[in-house]
Amino acid sequence: MFIFKAKKLHLLTTQILKSKDIMNHLILNTPIMPTTTTTLMTSRRNGGVCFCSSTTSNLKGGQGGVSMVQGASRGIGLEFVRQLLERKEKGHVIATCRNPDGATGLIELKEKFPEHLDILQLDVTDESTIEASALSIKERYGSLNLLINAAGILSIPNVLQPETTLSKLQKSSLLLTYEVNTVGPIMVIKHMWPLLKMGGGSGTERNSAVVANISARVSSIGDNRLGGWHSYRSSKTALNQLTKTISVEFARRKDPILCILLHPGTVDTDLSKPFQRNVPQDKLFTKEFSVQKLLGIIDSVKSMDNGKFFAWDGQEIPW
Ligand SMILES: NC(=O)c1ccc[n+]([C@@H]2O[C@H](COP(=O)([O-])OP(=O)(O)OC[C@H]3O[C@@H](n4cnc5c(N)ncnc54)[C@H](OP(=O)(O)O)[C@@H]3O)[C@@H](O)[C@H]2O)c1
Repeated sequence: MFIFKAKKLHLLTTQILKSKDIMNHLILNTPIMPTTTTTLMTSRRNGGVCFCSSTTSNLKGGQGGVSMVQGASRGIGLEFVRQLLERKEKGHVIATCRNPDGATGLIELKEKFPEHLDILQLDVTDESTIEASALSIKERYGSLNLLINAAGILSIPNVLQPETTLSKLQKSSLLLTYEVNTVGPIMVIKHMWPLLKMGGGSGTERNSAVVANISARVSSIGDNRLGGWHSYRSSKTALNQLTKTISVEFARRKDPILCILLHPGTVDTDLSKPFQRNVPQDKLFTKEFSVQKLLGIIDSVKSMDNGKFFAWDGQEIPW
């Protein structure tokens, strides 16, 4: 009698879970988890693609842990994804970007590392995409060990130009830059917080999960000798303050999460291209070099580093 009831209950639960998975897949780009096979799925919603490989293996930890790189379509973010995947203990990497269909670098990596990379659609200016990504990661992995917030803007042709004088400052430029560089990464941390708390350092060499926000040296008030770039500079300064504030809260709550800010150096990417003219050749880093240095800092982060701001060479940058 009991066995019969248990069997019936199991069947019912399986059916409910299956229909929940299908709903999540349709609504949230959440991968459906088959029990025995490994598949590459492509689902389209809002013009975005979610490439999710599904396996029966325990995806919740394992060697290398679960890492998320936000702003991974190109530049420094894409290079973080590449280097995390090329590690011996690569774990699982979740790369997020605004338009996965157009993220050719990520698509190539997905072909090379189908078991280890998921691509999710996330626009930092659209909180619903952040929430959907958090839910998707929760359902698939249950936790996160590393979050790298890489997305950022400095200039956009015909929309946004870094200011050279106060007279050129526009409210719209300030707000747009703050939305992407400051508010976006902080909302990502907010929604990933439960997952980071759950993950801590499990599956990695660390004792804690790490949040690494990519800031910039120009955000430093103490180091500001040149002026200019009002919107970009101050958006990153605000990012620094919010990251520090969050790091204090996590420590007070004894959450196993450390937050750091990183300056990558001047790196040869689309962001710096229009401003490279006066940069000496030996001060213009490749993405490969910069990210290798930054991953070295992330790997060796200690609790005493919580809330600190480091340059690519490990030197602390004054606020
Ligand atoms: N390069 C440098 O010299 C340098 C120096 C100091 C700090 N940084 C910082 O390093 C980070 C990466 O910069 P990068 O040089 O790699 O720049 P990049 O090559 O221009 O890449 C910027 C990334 O941000 C993404 N992004 C922009 N708006 C977004 C949004 N609303 N939602 C989600 N993603 C968005 C872009 O995605 P799309 O492809 O969809 O546009 C792209 O993946 C930035 O935070 C930047 O401020 C760079």
